[in-house]
Amino acid sequence: MNSSSLLSPTCTSPRVTVVGAGKVGSTLAQKIAEKNIADVVLLDIVAGMPQGLALDLMEARGLEHQERLIIGTVDYKDTAGSNIVVITAGVPRKPGLTREDLVTINARIVVEAAQKASAQSPNAVLIVVTNPLDVMTYLAWEASGLPPRRVVGMGGVLDAARFQTFIALELGVSVQDIQTMVIGDHGQLMVPLPRYCTVRGIPIAELMSQEAIARLVERTRNGGAEIVQLMQTGSAFFAPAASAALMVEAILQNQPRVVPAAAYLQGEYGLNNIFLGVPCQLSCRGVEKVIELQLTDEERDAFMRSAASVQKNISQAKELIAASVPG
Ligand code: APR
Repeated sequence: MNSSSLLSPTCTSPRVTVVGAGKVGSTLAQKIAEKNIADVVLLDIVAGMPQGLALDLMEARGLEHQERLIIGTVDYKDTAGSNIVVITAGVPRKPGLTREDLVTINARIVVEAAQKASAQSPNAVLIVVTNPLDVMTYLAWEASGLPPRRVVGMGGVLDAARFQTFIALELGVSVQDIQTMVIGDHGQLMVPLPRYCTVRGIPIAELMSQEAIARLVERTRNGGAEIVQLMQTGSAFFAPAASAALMVEAILQNQPRVVPAAAYLQGEYGLNNIFLGVPCQLSCRGVEKVIELQLTDEERDAFMRSAASVQKNISQAKELIAASVPG
């Protein structure tokens, strides 16, 4: 190998931009660096904050035995050439505030982030984390101009992880042995699917009562609110960051992981022009494939109610954005 090949552009590290350096964004940056899978650009609107966090993370590298570059910035130019952009910017849930209440504030933030980030990284996969998740993913996709399958929302991964946790606690078995599936929106109308949940292949209905399953389904639906209620001054961020990190790793390393996530539907499940939680196979291209599950009438009705609510919220958010355009 000659010395010039060592300096060739193909030697550059993969780069992940995280927009929003708050609780979820900074924890995600830390996870990516500690996994040693990419350099990280942490961007926020508050000057100094992302730079300070990036320096703090850089100073941990010698102790963590990794060499990843972590850049803090308020300038989208520094995000250029990212393989993945994760949008966590926005206002999190507060007690008494539903995800839908956040639409007004977060829509403007997410649209701006998607436009500016995709202009700098036209080949990136965009992962949206900001709530209300399904609506924000749609708005981010429209604003980005990216192909629909290159945009995906992190919602189902988190909901499925919560369901997995509650089943593990209920049965006293390892969380590793539990597989769960949650489809629909990342909100009150999400559809946990006990029929598709197993303990190492054993359907959970064989291991617990219908009453217990109904209780865990309800707890999963309220998973975010339960934490908001306990914390009072913030919302969940460890499990959301871990969920986003799993998606980042799968996409960056072209692992064909199958996860529930908000994908653009083009006829699947009889739906069009909507981002909604469904089982997806990921790849370096984003959502490689949407998997269509066989649903019972009851499951399908619940899924369609969820879709109708997301569709309504998308329309309302679009009206809101149109009304807020100056002039
Ligand atoms: N551009 C960049 N960053 C922004 C912008 C903007 N226009 N507006 C706000 N931010 C930043 C804030 O300055 C803050 O640092 O987004 C960050 C949000 O961080 P937190 O308030 O700590 O919120 P967090 O808990 O990280 O949640 C972020 O993820 O899970 C969802 O519901 C949650 O929508 C919320 C998002």
